[in-house]
Amino acid sequence: MKLGTPLSDTAVRVMLLGSGELGKEVAIELQRLGAEVVAVDRYPNAPAMQVAHRSHVIPMTDPQVLNGVIMAEAPHFIVPEIEAIATEVLADIEAAGMAVVIPTARAVQLTMNREGIRKLAAEDLGLPTSPYAFAGSAEELAAGAEAVGYPNFVKPVMSSSGKGQSFVKSADEIADAWTYAQESGRVAGARVIVEGRIDFDFEITLLTVRSLRDGVVVTDFCAPIGHRQVKGDYVESWQPQAMSDAALASAQDIAGKVTDALGGLGVFGVELFVKGDQVWFSEVSPRPHDTGLVTLASQTMSEFALHARAILGLPVDVTLREPAASAVIYGGIEAQGVAFEGVAEALSVPTADLRLFGKPEAFERRRMGVATARGADTDQARERAREAAGRVKVVRA
Ligand SMILES: Nc1ncnc2c1ncn2[C@@H]1O[C@H](COP(=O)(O)OP(=O)(O)OP(=O)(O)O)[C@@H](O)[C@H]1O
Ligand SMILES: [Mg+2]
Repeated sequence: MKLGTPLSDTAVRVMLLGSGELGKEVAIELQRLGAEVVAVDRYPNAPAMQVAHRSHVIPMTDPQVLNGVIMAEAPHFIVPEIEAIATEVLADIEAAGMAVVIPTARAVQLTMNREGIRKLAAEDLGLPTSPYAFAGSAEELAAGAEAVGYPNFVKPVMSSSGKGQSFVKSADEIADAWTYAQESGRVAGARVIVEGRIDFDFEITLLTVRSLRDGVVVTDFCAPIGHRQVKGDYVESWQPQAMSDAALASAQDIAGKVTDALGGLGVFGVELFVKGDQVWFSEVSPRPHDTGLVTLASQTMSEFALHARAILGLPVDVTLREPAASAVIYGGIEAQGVAFEGVAEALSVPTADLRLFGKPEAFERRRMGVATARGADTDQARERAREAAGRVKVVRA
């Protein structure tokens, strides 16, 4: 694909489906290479819209509306940033050769549903995962939970960021887990997965990049990213996560097999659990990962730059520059048009940097920004990132 001039006949047009903070960074990287960027989301003034050439506010789960916007814009590339999209439209567009879906329409479809990706990983590829069962009713869930054992996790098959997810310690809690999954899942009457708890030492995201080099698809692995989750949402991440050579080899082997099976070009966030030399596959995002925000500080090229390059068929460099960490800044309040206090204080922490996402509305647990910092090691970087994030206060204007 020859790069051209945005807003002209030679433009390479890229449509982002989902315009959050991760999409915003991808949009900026695409802009730097002169792509024409169209941002789409279900609410106005979403972060990526603010740095795009054009934007559209539509319900992305509505196939007709989504198809209409794609037809009107005729993008060369469609880049999903979130899971709640009418993916059947993407499959049709791809099959008709009208646009390239990143990484592929099938990968987007398989990974939006825990059932699709889990069966691919565990049953087709034979990769190690937690024991699991799927259920479409409270009774099936009770039986599935007995089979995988306690404690376990119950999750709607279509959900992200910990929504509708329960940690279940014993059989008397399983009915509540079913109800909670139904209330919080993306669709009513939703199926759930019950997964036996893996007693891991730590969990990582292995950013895996499929890109073209001399016309051939190559796979590169970033250094492993460690992270801490609270209620299924990441609160801090750091890179590199120290691990044994055997565990790293096994993590790369798993990530390589999963991303080979999904295909296409771009960044994948492969989530893995690690205990000693043992590694389990958990799930994968066919796009940059929130825990990968740390790469803004740690790598020569951030995961967003890597994604932009890979999408456009360009070579990538996954070199780690320095140990670094990221810490999330939550809204803490429910308000529109919030202001940020303590920014100068935060940026006075050595090596600290900030991204304030520009979201029009804050919620208690909405991610409004992130602090990054570097350090001699990840302990120092984490301390600095946490300190910087803690100094930023989200306030009513
Ligand atoms: N089987 C398991 N064993 C141990 N811990 C688990 C298991 N499943 C989930 N967890 C914990 O819960 C977190 C969230 O789970 P998971 O990634 O499946 O949910 P999610 O809603 O897709 O979250 P996100 O969108 O933030 O990745 C994991 O990162 C891990 O900390
Ligand atoms: Mg996850």
